[in-house]
Amino acid sequence: MAKLKGELTVDFLDLAKARSSIRAYRSDPVPEDKLRRVLEAAQCAPSAANRQPIHLYVVRDAELRARMLDVYSQQWFADAPVIICACARPSEAWQRRDGKSYADIDVAIAMDHLILAAAAEGLGTCWIGAFKPGKLREILQMPADLEPVAMTPLGFPDQQPGPTPRKPLDELVEYR
Ligand SMILES: Cc1cc2nc3c(=O)[nH]c(=O)nc-3n(C[C@H](O)[C@H](O)[C@H](O)COP(=O)(O)O)c2cc1C
Repeated sequence: MAKLKGELTVDFLDLAKARSSIRAYRSDPVPEDKLRRVLEAAQCAPSAANRQPIHLYVVRDAELRARMLDVYSQQWFADAPVIICACARPSEAWQRRDGKSYADIDVAIAMDHLILAAAAEGLGTCWIGAFKPGKLREILQMPADLEPVAMTPLGFPDQQPGPTPRKPLDELVEYR
């Protein structure tokens, strides 16, 4: 059991099962302390050789968020009060001997920490992979050494979707 904020005790599996992709957001701002905790969760994520080759853009400006519709064209995405864009800095990432870069994996771990922390704060998120990276680079004026990997809107949910199906454990797991 994990102790949250000194009072609330949340079972991790319950939290992981309760998280769902949220595709409708209230316009209420995300309180600073909640945003900070969510970002700290990303900060404490492990990374290969502790290289931490990640960079997070926190987009709150309303004009910028409206422009983000050119990056991912769903209105609910731009309606959220915060959009987080998770990038890799491949030049800083650890590479295996055969040349495989762990940059994307490191970003995904940080993003998953962030997303689960958001759920613990009562905030909604939705992984966004189907975006236009060129447009995102342009709008955020990203330096060339950053590579956008994933995004998520962040805000209070305006829907309560039920759980989505998962393959049974015995299809995913093989004991030897
Ligand atoms: C890497 C990744 C990329 C995704 N990209 C999108 C996306 O572009 N748009 C979208 O609406 N959902 C996207 N999703 C959300 C998945 O559709 C969702 O996680 C999956 O259907 C399971 O539903 P759940 O998150 O509610 O459990 C993405 C999820 C992951 C992990």
